[in-house]
Amino acid sequence: MSWALHPLTEEQTEVQKLARDFARAEIAPHSAEWDQKAYFEPSLVKKLGELGFLGMMLPEAYDGLGTDTGTYLIALEEIAAADASVAVLMSVHNSLPTQMILRYGSDAQKDRFLRKMARGEILGAFALSEPDAGSDASALATQAVKDGNSWILNGTKSWVTNGNTAGAILTMARTDRTGARRGARGIGAFIISPDLPGFKVGKKEDKLGLRASPTVQLTFDNMRVPADNLLGDETEGFVYAMQSLDNGRLGIAAQAIGIARSALEHSVVYAGERKQFGKAIKEFEAIQLLHAAAAAKDRGQNIRQFSSMAKLMASETAMWVTTQAVQIFGGYGYVKDYPVERLMRDAKVTEIYEGTSEIQRIVIARALYGHT
Ligand code: CAA
Repeated sequence: MSWALHPLTEEQTEVQKLARDFARAEIAPHSAEWDQKAYFEPSLVKKLGELGFLGMMLPEAYDGLGTDTGTYLIALEEIAAADASVAVLMSVHNSLPTQMILRYGSDAQKDRFLRKMARGEILGAFALSEPDAGSDASALATQAVKDGNSWILNGTKSWVTNGNTAGAILTMARTDRTGARRGARGIGAFIISPDLPGFKVGKKEDKLGLRASPTVQLTFDNMRVPADNLLGDETEGFVYAMQSLDNGRLGIAAQAIGIARSALEHSVVYAGERKQFGKAIKEFEAIQLLHAAAAAKDRGQNIRQFSSMAKLMASETAMWVTTQAVQIFGGYGYVKDYPVERLMRDAKVTEIYEGTSEIQRIVIARALYGHT
């Protein structure tokens, strides 16, 4: 079953098949076990890299596949239908760190990182949130102070997907000074790596869902970051992060749709009443909205409002569909003999990360009142 927009191009059909075959053969058979053991399978990064799935929107010059956004989202949906934990790795890596470096990095930074990231030799991560700055992201407190040819970073980052396995972590930190705070315009973005002195991986979260995707805290204790690891302008890091989250939210919407689709497929098989349940779900609209937003992005349009709408609709659809799936399975839906309870747990986070549903509503409302 496929819910992507039709007709797919030849390239999209090929990528979809590649992703689906890989997901069914190498991911789906292990998903339940990885979830139960909260186990991250490291070989997946290499395999995804070999398939080109870690450089989907990167130009071929950087060993990427050079696909458009819609094609990337089709592949992501397939991976998410097999395992949402693997999908978040792919989404964060493709949407946030690689796109940030491609868009705002110097030629030297692109040369240093992008090929290795596309091949899966370096995994990317994104460190914006902090213990006291989640939805209000620009209130972050991690401080960066220039010292000769380096920046010294101190602070704590939370909820970092793959923060313990990534080799390039795009980290937002304050570059303004105490007494001369500049709010959202006083933040820089740094490419940091675990080998930097003062870098420490902290608590690994014990999560309700997405258990096979490691989520960690990071602490920086006088961490010395070479000045050429600063991305672009030292005051623009928050804007870079927000623009990247416009892409990221499309990825999370695709992940949510993959989860919803999987729940539907399992339910259809279980209930044997395809038509009845098929009529009840509403994710066709979510998919159309997502792919319309992807096309708008590829046309170079501002998608801030559009990507928030796609994420909001897809994640709420996923939560609704997976809850119904558990209901259809009855008692069996509530135990681990069937995958639908995992799908429901995995769906929940799509309403939380990369901006909660409440934040998406704020972004949409601001756009309606002309704050774009
Ligand atoms: N594109 C470009 N610029 C943007 C932008 C965007 N999407 N969003 C904001 N900006 C710019 C604004 O234009 C503004 O610029 P000016 O100074 O020139 O006016 C500047 O950034 C500050 O913007 P705001 O005044 O809107 O900032 P704010 O502090 O009010 O915050 C917010 C806005 C939308 C609430 C934002 O804080 C937000 O999105 N919060 C949610 C955070 C989030 O999504 N976190 C995700 C964590 S990462 C994660 O989950 C990844 C993972 O591992 C899975």
